[in-house]
Amino acid sequence: MAESTTAIPAHADYGLDAPGVVRTLAILGILCVVGAFLWPRLSFTSPTIQHIAVHPTLLWMGCGFLAGSGLMIASSRWGKLRARDNLLDRFQLTGSETVLDVGCGHGLLLIGAAKRLTTGKAIGVDLWSQVDQKDNSSAAAMANAQEEGVADRVDVRDGDMRALPLDDSSVDLVLSCLAIHNVSGSEERRKAIREIVRVLKPGGRVGIIDISNVGEYADELRKAGMTSVSTHGITPWIYPPTRVLTAIK
Ligand SMILES: C[S@@+](CC[C@H](N)C(=O)[O-])C[C@H]1O[C@@H](n2cnc3c(N)ncnc32)[C@H](O)[C@@H]1O
Repeated sequence: MAESTTAIPAHADYGLDAPGVVRTLAILGILCVVGAFLWPRLSFTSPTIQHIAVHPTLLWMGCGFLAGSGLMIASSRWGKLRARDNLLDRFQLTGSETVLDVGCGHGLLLIGAAKRLTTGKAIGVDLWSQVDQKDNSSAAAMANAQEEGVADRVDVRDGDMRALPLDDSSVDLVLSCLAIHNVSGSEERRKAIREIVRVLKPGGRVGIIDISNVGEYADELRKAGMTSVSTHGITPWIYPPTRVLTAIK
């Protein structure tokens, strides 16, 4: 997809996920709340039905849509940073590792990992979908790396996770957050998982956060010979709810 030409902000901005969904939920919420207050003035139904059924139903639906939209914004802006740090804490990096962020977007995991590296390198791969993340581009990811003071340890590459632009057995840790579910079709997602296994060194580790298909990823990791494949409960910091998957090659 085409890169965004939007101006790069002067502070690290890790992007808004699924902007179209956030916008749709907000519009539906506003329409329902406005409708709840306008409906009693229209005489389609009897006053009793209006007050007992239509008004509260529209109001609750509106509040639900608006809450969903707000939670998605809060998740992109703050929750994901907490989930990112919790994920990285699991791996106790020594600082010399090569870390890959699959579907890095604005560089959330990429830069979080780079901050924990000394001699190592953090590589991000993405095809910069504007549907999956607002104002998505390699320039935005690199600007965030610059802003966070880790640009010398960060390498951002254009690529599709189903054909990663990396050598076999070249990475110590593969991370991915809310990215793999964007690939349509089970076989295509499984291809992405096999690519992750291909680029991992023997003994290399993987940490994936995603909203769906985590069982499918676990199954493919096991088939590809990964060990200690574990799914960890729901992550409270991200909306919609996500699960974490870890494994070792
Ligand atoms: C919801 S965003 C998450 C970005 C980042 N991981 C984060 O958590 O902020 C999903 C990312 O996956 C990327 N993506 C989707 N399909 C991809 C593919 N086939 N190969 C590489 N990246 C992909 C999108 O461009 C987008 O940057």
